[in-house]
This record gives sequence, C-alpha cells and structure tokens, in this order.
Amino acid sequence: MVADAKRIVALREELARHDYRYYVLDDPEVPDAEYDRIMRELRELEARHPSLITADSPTQRVSGAPTREFGEVEHRVPMLSLDNAFSDDDIINFDRRVRERLELAEGVEVDYNSEPKLDGLAISLTYEDGVFTVGATRGDGVKGEDVTTNMRTLRSVPLKLRGDRHPKLIEVRGEVFMSNAGFEQMNRDALARGDKVFVNPRNAAAGSLRQLDPAITASRPLEIFFYGVGAIEGGTLPERHSELLSMLGEWGLRTCPEIRVESGVAGLLSYYRDIGARRATLGYQIDGVVYKVNSLARQRELGFVARAPRWAIAHKFPAEEEMTQVRDIEWQVGRTGALTPVARLEPVFVGGVTVSNATLHNVDELTRKDVRIGDTVIIRRAGDVIPEIVRVIEERRPRDAVAVLLPTVCPVCGSDVSRIEGEAVARCMGGLVCAAQRKESLKHFASRRAMDVEGLGDKVVEQLVDAGLVESAADLYSLTVQQLLQLERMGEKSATKLIASISKSKDTTFARFLFALGISNVGEATALALAEHFGTLQALQAASFEQIMLVPDIGPVVAEDIREFFEEPRNQQIVGQLLAHGVSWPAPSTGRSEHQPLSGKTFVLTGTLPTLGRADAEALIRKAGGKVTSSVTKKTSYVVAGDSAGSKLERARELKVSVIDEDELARLVALR
Ligand code: IVH
Repeated sequence: MVADAKRIVALREELARHDYRYYVLDDPEVPDAEYDRIMRELRELEARHPSLITADSPTQRVSGAPTREFGEVEHRVPMLSLDNAFSDDDIINFDRRVRERLELAEGVEVDYNSEPKLDGLAISLTYEDGVFTVGATRGDGVKGEDVTTNMRTLRSVPLKLRGDRHPKLIEVRGEVFMSNAGFEQMNRDALARGDKVFVNPRNAAAGSLRQLDPAITASRPLEIFFYGVGAIEGGTLPERHSELLSMLGEWGLRTCPEIRVESGVAGLLSYYRDIGARRATLGYQIDGVVYKVNSLARQRELGFVARAPRWAIAHKFPAEEEMTQVRDIEWQVGRTGALTPVARLEPVFVGGVTVSNATLHNVDELTRKDVRIGDTVIIRRAGDVIPEIVRVIEERRPRDAVAVLLPTVCPVCGSDVSRIEGEAVARCMGGLVCAAQRKESLKHFASRRAMDVEGLGDKVVEQLVDAGLVESAADLYSLTVQQLLQLERMGEKSATKLIASISKSKDTTFARFLFALGISNVGEATALALAEHFGTLQALQAASFEQIMLVPDIGPVVAEDIREFFEEPRNQQIVGQLLAHGVSWPAPSTGRSEHQPLSGKTFVLTGTLPTLGRADAEALIRKAGGKVTSSVTKKTSYVVAGDSAGSKLERARELKVSVIDEDELARLVALR
C-alpha cells in the first residue's frame, strides 16, 4: 500500500511534468504512447486504492456528471475589455496619451508588452495554494459562468501549479481557443459521423466549452494561452507585465510564444506588421495584437476609463469576414475549358481590400453552398487568399432569389458542356474554337512566370483574339506593328514596344516554355522537373508514359496529360511553329547531346513560306540535323513548298517525293 501510494505520487508528478514540457515548453520529452502508458498505470493503481484518488490527479480531468446548467461566479476583479485601434494614427495617439498622462519627458519611449490578440474566449482560473479551484467565463465582466469541470479537461490547464511559494490565491486569465488543425480535424470527424460542423474555430471553442457534459468538452481539442492576472491574495507581483508572464510560464501556465517587448510607436507598428505577415502560419486564429504598458506601476498610475484600461489597446487587423449581396452569378471559361461559377458582389471592404467577385470553384460547390442571385452572403478574404463565399444567410434570402444551373452549352462559344462522371469540373468542349479558352491560354502563355511578354496584358490579349489577329501562341510571333495599330487605344509607340517585347520573349528557358504551353496539370514546379529530367524538348516529346513517370513527383494522371498534349497534332503544330519563329533556350549543361529529329533527312525549299524567310527555314532545318539542297532528286526526303512554288514542286510530284508546307515542317522539327 505504501509502495503503491508512493508510486501514485511519482506517476502524477511525471504526468504533470510531461504536460508542462508538452504544452508550456512545446518540447515533449516522451512520445504520446509513453504518456498513455503512465496514465494507464496510474488509473490501475487508483482503481485498486480508491481512497488515494485526489481531485488534482490527472485521471480526474473528466469528472462529475453532466449538469443541467452552469453555476454563477462573481469575479473578484472585473474582467474588462480593450479599446480598439484600426490605424497607425490610432496607435500614435494611444502612445501620446500614455506619455502625456505619465508626464514623461520629450523623447522618452514607453516599453509595451506586445501580444497576439487571440480569437477565442476569455477565461479566468483561480488557484488556491497552487491548486486549481474555479474556472469561469467572462460573462458580462462582473459575473461569469462556472465552467470549472470543463476547464479541468484541458490538458494545458495544470491542476496544480509547478514549483512552490505560490500566492494564497491567484486568479489568472487567458484565452481558450481551438487551433486551426484541431478545428479542421474535429469538423472532419463530425462530417464523417453526419454531425453538424462549426463555422469557425472561435465558435467551435465556445460551443465546446459550454457543454453541460464535461466528457464532450474533454473530447474537443481546446487549448489555452494565459495573458494576465486578475485577483491576487497573499503574494506579490513582479514589476513588469513581461516578468509576470514569465512567472506564469514557470508555474506551468502556458503563454503565447509570439509575445515581445517593444519600445515606442515604431516598435509597435513593426510588431503589428510582422505578426500580420505571419498570421496565416501561426496555426490559430488571431484578430489583431494587444499592446500593454509593460511597467505594472505605470499601469496602476494610468488606471481605467469606463470598461477598458488606459494602459492597453487592441490593434485590430481588418475584418476577414464581411456580409454582402450577390448581384449575379456568371460562368467563366478557363484555359482548359473548365467552367467556374463566379459571384458578382455588391462591393465590400474585407481583409483590407474591396472585393466585388468571389469564385465558387465548381458546380458542386455552387450546389452545396446553394448560393442564389439576390442572396446575402458572408465573404471571407484571409491573407492573400482569394476571396470566397463562406455561406449564405438563409434568413435573408429574398423571395425572388434566383438559383443558377450549370449551362448545357458554353456561354462564350456555344459548344457543348460536358462533365465527366465523378469529376467536379464541367468543361466547354470547344477547344480552340472557344474564344475564352484561346484568350486564357494566351494570357497564360504571355504571363510573367511563363514567356514574360511585357506589355501583353489581359486587355490586349482579348483585343487581339476579338480582332481575329491571334489564334494560338505561335501567331503572336508573326504580328506586325501595322496589325497592332488596328487595335483600339494602341499607338505607334506602344505597338512598336510590344512587338519588341514579343520578340525578346523568344529568348527563354526550357522550363518556362513548358509551363507556358499550358499543358493541364503542369505548373511551374512540374515544368521545371520535366526540363531538368529530360534536358531537351525532343527527349521529352519522345518519352513514353513510363519514362515520364520516372520524373520525381509526376504521377499517372499528369504523365497521361503530358503524353496526350504532345500526341495532339494541333499542339505539335503550334510547338513547331514556336520553334520555327525562333523561340529558344540555352542547351542543357549536363552534356546530353541534343536529339536531332531531322538527322539524315534532305530538304528542298520552294516558293514563299507564309511566315518563315528562306534563311530562317534553312537554319531551322540545319539546327534539327537536316540537310538543305537546291535540286529535287529521288534522295530528297521532303520538298517544303510555299506560295508560287514552281518547277521544283512539279519535279517532286513526278518523283513522288513528299511535299509539305511550313506547318508540317514545324511539326517535324518539334517531333521525335
Ligand atoms: S488583455 C484589461 N490580452 O480580448 C485587459 N486580452 O477585447 C483585458 N484577448 O476579453 C484583456 N488576446 O478575450 C488581453 N493577449 C490578450 C488577448 C486578449 C485576446 C481578448 C480577451 C478580452 C478581449 C478584450
């Protein structure tokens, strides 16, 4: 019995130490399985000796039966709120007021403890002689709800403070929240069970804490960061807020690792921008930062106004969610023909920008979210992420709201729309017949990360396609200044400049070229991997499905897309034309010899080719390993004939030598 009693104490201490290492230091000593093993041993011993069970045993985190309602707790010290600031000027004024009240000399800067403003719910925990006794929500600031049993279930809440010499009573305050990962996992589980999902981590945290059955709270991934102290009896506080937080940490009360002490306005604003920039990667939701005068003596001197301290302020980030109305829902046709529903919105300021469009990604999403024209919706724009419609506020749906269906024909070209079973996307089958697809693939081709044609923006591409001047990327390279001048708002100077930058773009890299082709599922990274693996276009074009699969990170779907792309005659033609126009890149430095698709072949040129000059055509053939001669014999492999071809063409026909045009030549050059 004595041995067991000792073992029980040791196991409890060990578990408390692991909780501290895990939650406070973020540096676990043992894997979860070991923790579970210790917990099991403790449970077994306690089952054998029920008289040895104490309230602060980690086995007692989930205790007590579900209650009917929460009791009430009166806060010893009211739980106040914070004033909000939204601009740099608000912070300049806040700092000025603080310095004036403290009667600081000109030029003396104040130190502020700067902390993320966690987006969860405020909680107060009382420890008496180091033992957790009461947990309460903020409520109206004066009285809150008694959530002691629920708070005990959080493993980041120590049931006993570490160390000794604790105050007789200390009431610590912090924010209960759910990490993004915890929230997503919880919603995935809920979906799998067919249960209701929560809209955001904050609601999920609030809903989980306010459960009448502590077993439910225990099953939810709730966490806490402590950020302050309310009442204290029989103990003293350090001089600075930063020291207070360190003290909490030593007691095993977890504080946010992003907390810093900053001096003066410049320090505060740089902290705000730094946290703002890293907001999306913190792993939990914050809605701003909080600055607190670091000296506790100065805090006392500054005091409070109404319900907020003069010594602290919340510097909020622009709201990431706003409400607005759907004016229309249109279908956009992308580069590969994919139809995307896009909601046109009543412009709304959200996440720091004015948003007037939001994508609905695909038909399924449109159906699932059931967004209709006229609906009031919640828009979210977080960080640099594209704005999205979170949900419809159904209570506000007007009677004449219009549901939008997937069109059966392409809204741009009228071709059939087809949707492959099991796929989310519906596509216009028009291919290059569809002006939208042509425009999108040209925009992609010319874009900065692809061929980087300066000055060839979306507007000009649209004009070029609408005017019938350009069909495929290859056509760009035969454009003339005269042709460009036909376009509206295009002057001589910009036309000349554009032609020059189109020409300049011919000098590229193999990876950029592959990316620019717009092969489905081939993004920048895949293009680079392909370029590095194959070295030359010829090698890639000659590669089998299996050979493409050897490229790191390329799976069967992408390999198939690549094969299909190069097998399509129209694509072969365009690639050939691009090369014929002089699009080129440095040869690979790996020493691989370039594959020469025309080696052993003899060519004769006759007539005027539509885009290539004679010298260009000859150079192209030679570069690909072919020979150019002047007279047609039985040994001639191909006669390349253009306009007003003469006797050589006749001779070729007599000798049954293959006669090809410029396009076919281009295809041969690009061919394996
Ligand atoms: S200090 C008197 N620090 O913001 C000072 N509050 O608007 C009281 N909050 O109810 C709060 N992160 O729920 C403080 N680092 C932080 C905070 C924080 C989030 C919440 C808290 C409070 C509300 C005040």
